Amino acid sequence: MKDILTAPFMVEMIRTVTNMYAHGWDERNGGNVSLMLEEKDVAEYLDITNVLRVIPTGFAAPTLAGKYFLVTGTGKYFKNVQYAPDVNLGLVRLVEDGKMAELLWGYTDGGQFTSEFPAHMMSHAARLEVNPENRVVMHCHPANLLAMTYVHTLDEIAFTRTLWQMCTECIVVFPEGVNVLPWMLCGTNEIGEATAEKMKTARLVVWSQHGIYGAGKDLDETFGLIETAEKGAEIYMKIAHLPRVNTITDEQLHLLEKRFNVKARDGYLN
Ligand code: 13P
Ligand code: ZN
Repeated sequence: MKDILTAPFMVEMIRTVTNMYAHGWDERNGGNVSLMLEEKDVAEYLDITNVLRVIPTGFAAPTLAGKYFLVTGTGKYFKNVQYAPDVNLGLVRLVEDGKMAELLWGYTDGGQFTSEFPAHMMSHAARLEVNPENRVVMHCHPANLLAMTYVHTLDEIAFTRTLWQMCTECIVVFPEGVNVLPWMLCGTNEIGEATAEKMKTARLVVWSQHGIYGAGKDLDETFGLIETAEKGAEIYMKIAHLPRVNTITDEQLHLLEKRFNVKARDGYLN
């Protein structure tokens, strides 16, 4: 059996959460990441019949039964993951219609997966319906996106259009826009269900006054999505209080659609 700490999925996960911390998106234990794995890849590193613990999830996710996930632990600091991956990360398999998670590796201090497991698993299920290639759900607390939810209308069309106007690349990276949830209690099945519903139409879901969720086919794509939206929000927070002399017009956004062969969400451009 090969050493799981050398597995490409493990190396990439550790690099990604370390980088998220370096970007200031994950203070203390803020944020959480889940990466769906193929059974054949896990089996190269672990005896998949050796279940260490069974942890109830508190929800059902029948379409994810039998699926494997590498997930950050609840209360764990992203800055520490690189030094003690086996304490701060866990590898689980969902069973019994997703109502139970079998721990196969990690959480060695007796811990368990993130308190946002419902939002992660429900979002995986929702995104897989739209794109069978989806593998990642990522949550974090980037300061400018968070700040924007205090001073900008939460209307999804207006919020998206503002971000698209802030950097030329925004519409190219997330042409479907960002969806926005009002403030809700985190760590609950309710916010999980609401997030998953929003994930049906966009890979980015803002949690007002809290943070953002991103989804994608790999860790790089998902990180890049959040990075680009956060850059847009940063520009907005730099200029929102100043007179706007220039902007990116809808005509120019249409030119970007053509040049990069993307389609802006219906009804979002004039
Ligand atoms: P966890 O430590 O349970 O992952 O929670 C962090 C967080 O960001 C809650 O929204
Ligand atoms: Zn959070």
